Amino acid sequence: MKFNIAYLPGDGIGPEVASEAAKVLQTACEKFGHKAILEYGDVGGISIDRHGVALTPETLKMCRKSDCVLLGAVGGPKWDAPNSDVRPEDGLLGLRKGLKLFANLRPVKVFPMLVNSTNLKPEVIKGVDLMVVRELTGGLYFGKPKKRWKTEQGRRAVDSMVYTEKEIERILRVGFEMARSRRKKLASVDKQNVLMTSRLWREMAIEMSEEYPDVELEHHLVDACTMRLIQRPSQYDVLVTENTFGDIITDEASMLAGSMGMLPSASLADVPRVGSEVYGLYEPIHGSAPSRAGQNMANPIATIMSVAMMLRYSLGLVEAADLVEKSVLRVLEDGYRTYDIMSGGMTKVGTREMGDLIVKKVAGTR
Ligand code: IPM
Ligand code: MG
Repeated sequence: MKFNIAYLPGDGIGPEVASEAAKVLQTACEKFGHKAILEYGDVGGISIDRHGVALTPETLKMCRKSDCVLLGAVGGPKWDAPNSDVRPEDGLLGLRKGLKLFANLRPVKVFPMLVNSTNLKPEVIKGVDLMVVRELTGGLYFGKPKKRWKTEQGRRAVDSMVYTEKEIERILRVGFEMARSRRKKLASVDKQNVLMTSRLWREMAIEMSEEYPDVELEHHLVDACTMRLIQRPSQYDVLVTENTFGDIITDEASMLAGSMGMLPSASLADVPRVGSEVYGLYEPIHGSAPSRAGQNMANPIATIMSVAMMLRYSLGLVEAADLVEKSVLRVLEDGYRTYDIMSGGMTKVGTREMGDLIVKKVAGTR
C-alpha cells in the first residue's frame, strides 16, 4: 500500500525530531512491503513568518487529503509576545478543531532501564504503564463566550467550559474501549463536586458503564487524581478526562517517565477499534525546546514512538508498530542515550545518531 502522510515539522527541535521519525516510518513501511510518501506543510511559527498565520487553509487541506499527519513541535520566543494576535499554538489548535481530532491518547510507560533517570523513587514508578485519554476539541479551549472586554470596574475576561452529550459520549467511549483492550480499569477524572459539566460527565460515565461490564470504572476528582499520580501511579490503567484537566494531568504524568523526550501522542478523529483504521495526528508531547534547537541534541524517541502509534491506529500496520517499539527498547538496552536520559556508563548520542540506531534495528530485525 501507498500511504500519504502530511509532514509538518514546525519549529525549534521539531524538524530535527520529525526527520528522524520520518526515517523510521519509511523504513518500517518498506520492511512490510508498503510505502510512506511525505508531503511537507508549514505550521506554527514558520507559517507565521511565511504566511502571517499559524495555519493556512492550504496546509489544512493538505492534511485532510492525507491518510494522517506527522507533526514535530510549534512555538518559540520569537512569537511569544503576550499581546500578539497570531500565535504558533493556534496552528495546533486549528489542526485539532479543523481535523476534528477529539481524542488525544497520551500513553506513559516507564522503561525499566530508565527507572533511575526520574526524580521519583524507583519503587514508586516501577511498572507504571498508563494511558491518558484527553478530550481535545471542547471545554475551556473552545467554549463560547470566550472574550475580553473593558467595563467601568476594569478589564474582564471569560472562558467557557461547555460540553454536549455527544462530545462526552464519544470521548468516554474511547476511554472504555482503551480500557477494554488493556487491563480493563478506567478512571474517569472530573470535578463533579463543583462543575456542572463534570456532573453530566459522571452521570454519562455511569450510564455507559452498563455497556462495558468487563471494565472496572472508578471516578476520581481531578485534584485527588494529581496527588495519586505522584503517590501511587502504578494503580492507573486508563484515565479519561476533559480538555484542560487532561492538559495538566499529562504534563504531570510525563514526569513519571523521566523525560518528556520519551512520550508520544496520538490525536484521533474517531474511536480506535481493533481491525479498523482511524484518521489521526501524531506528535511528541514535548514542545519545540528552542534552546536545544539546531544542535543535534534533542531526543527523537517521543516522535518515533508517535510513529509507532500512527502505524497502529491510522495505517493498520500493527506488526510494524510493534517492531518500532521493540527497536527503541533494544537501542536503549544497548546503552545509547540522548542527553536528557543520560546516566553513568551509557553512550551519549545526538538526535541523528539515535534515529539511525533505531532505523538500523527496524531494518535488521523482525
Ligand atoms: C499540549 C499543549 C497545547 C495544549 C498548547 C501548546 C496549546 O500544552 O498539547 O498539551 O494546551 O493543548
Ligand atoms: Mg500541554
